[in-house]
Order: sequence, then C-alpha cells, then structure tokens
Amino acid sequence: MADKQATLSVDGKTIDLPVYSGTLGPDVVDVRGLVKEGLFTYDPGFVSTAACSSQITFIDGGKGVLLHRGYPIEQLAEKVDYLDVCYMLMYGELPSVEQAEDFHKMVRNHTMVHEQLNHFYNGFRRDAHPMAIMCGVVGALSAFYHDNMDFSKELYREIAAYRLIAKLPTLAAMCYKYSMGQPFMYPNNSLDYASNFLYMMFATPCEEYVVSPTIAKAMDKIFILHADHEQNASTSTVRLAGSSGANPFACIASGIAALWGPAHGGANEAVLNMLTEIGDVERIPEFIAKAKDKDDPFRLMGFGHRVYKNFDPRAKVMKETCDQVLSELGCADDPLFAIARRLEQIALEDPYFVEKKLYPNVDFYSGIILRAIGIPISMFTVIFAMSRTIGWFSHWHEMIGEPYRIGRPRQLYTGPVQRDVPDK
Ligand code: SDX
Repeated sequence: MADKQATLSVDGKTIDLPVYSGTLGPDVVDVRGLVKEGLFTYDPGFVSTAACSSQITFIDGGKGVLLHRGYPIEQLAEKVDYLDVCYMLMYGELPSVEQAEDFHKMVRNHTMVHEQLNHFYNGFRRDAHPMAIMCGVVGALSAFYHDNMDFSKELYREIAAYRLIAKLPTLAAMCYKYSMGQPFMYPNNSLDYASNFLYMMFATPCEEYVVSPTIAKAMDKIFILHADHEQNASTSTVRLAGSSGANPFACIASGIAALWGPAHGGANEAVLNMLTEIGDVERIPEFIAKAKDKDDPFRLMGFGHRVYKNFDPRAKVMKETCDQVLSELGCADDPLFAIARRLEQIALEDPYFVEKKLYPNVDFYSGIILRAIGIPISMFTVIFAMSRTIGWFSHWHEMIGEPYRIGRPRQLYTGPVQRDVPDK
C-alpha cells in the first residue's frame, strides 16, 4: 500500500505516482502507471531501478552492510555453516537442530549425479573452461527429472533445491577431475558439505585422502560469503529466466552464464591473473596509473562495486580468512598476497579511488585463498557459482511463490523510422 506519493510533470501534464517504503533502504516510486500515459522510464544498467520486492537480502552500500534475512554476513560467517545459510535463505529462518539434521540428510541423499551425466564431460576438450562445462551440465540436469517438473507444487520446488545444492559440488569437482585426466570421485556422504567437495576435488581411488579441517572451514566460509547478494546481474538473470516459467535447472544455468563475466563473478579469476601480471610490488604504481587512464580499458579487478561505496563487508571477512589460511598453511609470505595487500593500501590512498569510492570487493581476496588451497584459477568462478546457487534458487523460489508476470523491459528506440524496401 502506498504511504507517499510522487508527482511527475511532463509536457504540462501532472502524473501522480505511488511511493512505497520497505523495512530498510530507499523508498521506491511505482512507475507502472506511466505506460498508460505513453511514457517509459529510462535506466540502462538498472542503476536506480527496483525490479522486484524481496525479503531475502539487504545491502546498504554506503555503510558496507550486508544482511541475509536480517542477519549480518560477519556473524553468519562466524557462527553457522553454509548449509544453515542455505536453509535460512530458502525458508527465512535459521534451522533448529532437528531442522538442520533433516536438511543435511536430504542434501546428502542427493549428492550423486546420474551416471549418464558423466558422459557429457567426454564431449568437452580436456582444456575446456570449467564454466563452459558447468553452463552445459547444470542446464542438462533438467533432462533427468521429467517426473518432478511441476514446479507449481512446493514439494517439487524443494526437491529441486536439494538436488541443486547437493549436486553442484559434485559437478564442479567433476570439471576439475576431467581437466586433470583423473577419474571422477563419488561423493563421500560421511563428510560435511565443504569436506565432501574438497574430497571429490583432491582424492584419488589409489589412496586414503584426509581433508584438512582448517581448509574445510575456510572453504565453508567462502561458500557463505558468496551465497547471495540481492538483485545482482546473475540473480536478475535467474529471475528473468524464471519469469517465463523456465525450470529452475535452466534458470540456474542462465545465472552461471551471467556470473562468468569478468565484471561479475569472473573477477576472482581476473584478480589472480592481474596480481600475477603485476608480479612485483614495485610495479603496482604502473598498474594503478593504467586503471586511472580513461584511454586504457584496464580496470583494477576486485575493486569497485555498483552498490558498495564503502568496504564490501565480505572482502573484510575474506581478508581475515586469507590471513588465517595462509598462516595455517605456512605461506603467510605468499608474494601474491603481499602484492594484494600493498595494492589495496596504495589504491585506498589514491584520490582517484577515494573520490570514486572504489574499495576491494568480494573477489579481491577470495582467489588468493583458493589458490593457497590448491584450486586452479580456472575453477574460481565455478566455486562462486556453486556458492551462489542457493541465492539464485531462493530468489527464483521467492518469485514463483507469489503471482508473477513475465519480465519484459522496454527501450528508447533510436533507430530508423519506417521506410520501404527499395525495388530490386
Ligand atoms: C561482483 O552486483 C553484485 O552484487 C555483484 C557481486 C555479487 O556478489 O553478486 O558483488 C559480485 O560482481 C563484484 C564485482 C566484481 N567485478 C570486479 O571486481 C571488476 C572491476 N570492477 C569494475 O568493473 C566495476 O567496479 C563494477 C563492474 C564492479 C561496477 O561497475 P559500475 O557500477 O557500472 O561502475 P562504473 O563502471 O560506472 O564505474 C564508475 C567509475 C568509472 O569512472 P568514470 O566513468 O566515472 O570516470 O569508476 C571507475 C570507472 O572507470 N571504476 C574503476 C573500477 N571500477 C570502476 N576504475 C578502475 N578500476 C576499477 N576496478
């Protein structure tokens, strides 16, 4: 219900528009009535557009605040595990002990993939980018569940959630094994979620493999820090795909495709490539200058954000985790971490970055931890996609749980007016 009103005056005509307030964040002007006045709004890149209402995640970019169902990300990363966060994002509340046990059990029961899916990998070159494989195999999941595709039923929506949460790590680890020419490892359901992923990534059939609890905890924290982030590019893609009635597996595959870009989830891979290219703290000023040069397309990867104009709270937790993991692994003097810390320090003192409010984002430190764990750079965005699957699913679930319409943005047309095709 509108509690305020905005008035728009166009060509001497006054148009009253309702204004709504949320529980947190800016008010929104409901512009749906403009179309009958022959007007559209114009907002390329959706800088100031609320595409939906949602109760899942809130970001205050000015204060560096990130809440999932009201809980601060810093507290979630410290106090609960990733599957608790999955439950909360889906159902709105953190699980009780019994609810957590049931949820973990349901996820464990779905960790294997259909044996036929293994053959999909053989169609790819061994050096195929794992994100290309993930786009393919996640979309293909829907081909295996014809009996459960009536997503108007909550039961089938929940089963799809369990399947996606449980199978993404299996499919991701299979990408890595395929690239290594090693056999796929079946899930080991006696392990927790993060340990099972690391087991499928690094174990071989030849000998026992024991997962480091430190690394498993860091992995679980990385999953939590990437779980959801409001209406970002890939989540908006999933919502738009879902608005056509597409099945959740296809929608998640569309999210994976959108996430791959270096301006979005592909940035973690790009950060590591950038730090490797910089190579020495002495060369940092050269790259800072490139990032500031309008004529140079180079951007400081891992810096800047559409919403955060203060620290990305996830980057702060990630940096602390980075310190812990590198120290535990005995590589606290990792040269790339030294370059990253120095780069952050210099950039945050540089007027260009200060006035444009460019701070490190979630992707700046994550790659250094993943590399220290032994995960190859090409797998970084796959880890992001695995973690974000619950966020994508929760937004899809929230959208189809209410009456919805197909998303159909309009445009400002600047092409030729109607003209006739010339006679031959
Ligand atoms: C993610 O939306 C989300 O929530 C995404 C995400 C999630 O969890 O889903 O948080 C994950 O995608 C994090 C962002 C990862 N991407 C990068 O680290 C790539 C580097 N960053 C930039 O490409 C950029 O900052 C974006 C894409 C993140 C944000 O782009 P915007 O909001 O469109 O900002 P912009 O490009 O208009 O930049 C504003 C100004 C520009 O200068 P002017 O035209 O005003 O003179 O800041 C400059 C830009 O040139 N700028 C940078 C910069 N980022 C912005 N200059 C140098 N280096 C950078 N990194």
